[in-house]
Amino acid sequence: MQEIKFYNGENIPLELHKVRIVQKLHLVPIERRLEALKEGGFNTFRLSTLDVFLDMLTDSGTNAMSDNQLAAMMKADDAYAGSQSFARLQKAVEDVLGKKYLLPVHQGRAAENILSVAYVRKGSLVPMNYHFTTAMAHITDKGGAIAELLYDEAYVINSDHPFKGNMNIEKLEEIINYHGPKNIPFIRMEASTNLIGGQPFSVQNLRDVRALADKYKIRLVLDCSLLGENAYLVLQREEEFKNSNMETVIKTMTGLADICYFSARKLSSSRGGGICTDSLEIFRELEAFVPLYEGFLTYGGMSIREVEAMAVGLYETLDETIISQSPTFIKYLVEQLDNKGIPVIKPAGVLGVHVDAMQVCAHIPQTQYPAGALAAALFLISGIRGMERGSISNQRDEYGNETYADMELVRLAVPRRVFTLSQIKYVEDRMTWLYENRELIGGLKFVYEPPVLRFFMGGLEPVSDWPEKLMAKFKEDFGESL
Ligand code: F0G
Repeated sequence: MQEIKFYNGENIPLELHKVRIVQKLHLVPIERRLEALKEGGFNTFRLSTLDVFLDMLTDSGTNAMSDNQLAAMMKADDAYAGSQSFARLQKAVEDVLGKKYLLPVHQGRAAENILSVAYVRKGSLVPMNYHFTTAMAHITDKGGAIAELLYDEAYVINSDHPFKGNMNIEKLEEIINYHGPKNIPFIRMEASTNLIGGQPFSVQNLRDVRALADKYKIRLVLDCSLLGENAYLVLQREEEFKNSNMETVIKTMTGLADICYFSARKLSSSRGGGICTDSLEIFRELEAFVPLYEGFLTYGGMSIREVEAMAVGLYETLDETIISQSPTFIKYLVEQLDNKGIPVIKPAGVLGVHVDAMQVCAHIPQTQYPAGALAAALFLISGIRGMERGSISNQRDEYGNETYADMELVRLAVPRRVFTLSQIKYVEDRMTWLYENRELIGGLKFVYEPPVLRFFMGGLEPVSDWPEKLMAKFKEDFGESL
């Protein structure tokens, strides 16, 4: 982000865009928020936006779109086959990601499905820096398993390590030798590793992974959903790229992978997804699955308007001003919360601010889902909707036992160019109040638990009347204020 100095010396993340289309928000009374929680099974995924004030659930499909993206949507060439909009997208993928062949899919997990169907078999093992929920679900669904190979530093909440998303190279080689390269269909690297707090890997680390992939002849797959932000942090943090630019860093990273895939709901601020490669052989291996699961090869289940928006959004990924906006707001909020002693993942990453519920709710055992409880409590006292990224988001093991998450986080997503600074200050204020009253937060238990990806639609209830007590304290302190 360009440095704009304020005369008073304060470091304010100044918005380098103007708001031209706006949407009304609803800040409903706390009594209604409690009802909404009960109706939604204390699961923030099940809330209606009519009850949500600041929607910090995710950046997926919620990043602000630019004037140029909206304009492009108007000239969409709607055709089942051979659409010019798809040709423009293909060109954007080649220009920005540097890959010749593009397979369009309706969103990121559709790419994960196709890669898993094509390459994963019973007994396959996919090493990765860290799992993402949908990637793991598709791999295990096809009989495979995953191995997470981050360095120990990645799990340290209060850290200053610049690249917590790095793959542990020594462990990777050990795992390859132990399981045999034949049983490893691909290595997966996730840019800006989502579930550990949006933490990047370095280009050097990706080169080291590439070297092992070459040595053992294993495909390297790069999840590019948060590639722009990873590239931005490489520019900030990796010495070699100090004077480089987004285009070079992005192409350097994608150039190291055999296959790139992405959720365009994140990358390119649109909706949709894609798989791309320079290898005709890989393209042929995957091609047939697109019409089977997605749609014809020139739209892949996406609206052609979104295809146009995606093409423009991909080019905008090269604009540091656009890409730096969310990480800069995140850094600001992390600093403010950290100054008040509230435990958040450091260094500030991308996608959102990640509050450490294991510490905030140290009195709630993992069996009662501290991160789910904190997310529900925050919504109750503020109308801010975050996302549980802890044990509720984990899946049970093959014997049906709970697997407790390494970290219990509440993610407060900061989508690109959506919120204003006063809204971010509101988050800081209400989070601070909640932290001071944290002893009032209690645990949750499942009353409805779907067998797959349970966090999406699962229903829970509080283990006691703690929400009522928290509400009473809120009213005592804030009176009639919403
Ligand atoms: N990979 C990463 C790194 C992601 O963050 C996501 C989605 C996906 C793949 C799947 O993409 O949703 O388009 O199917 N992340 C969203 C989130 C859901 O809220 O972080 P999708």
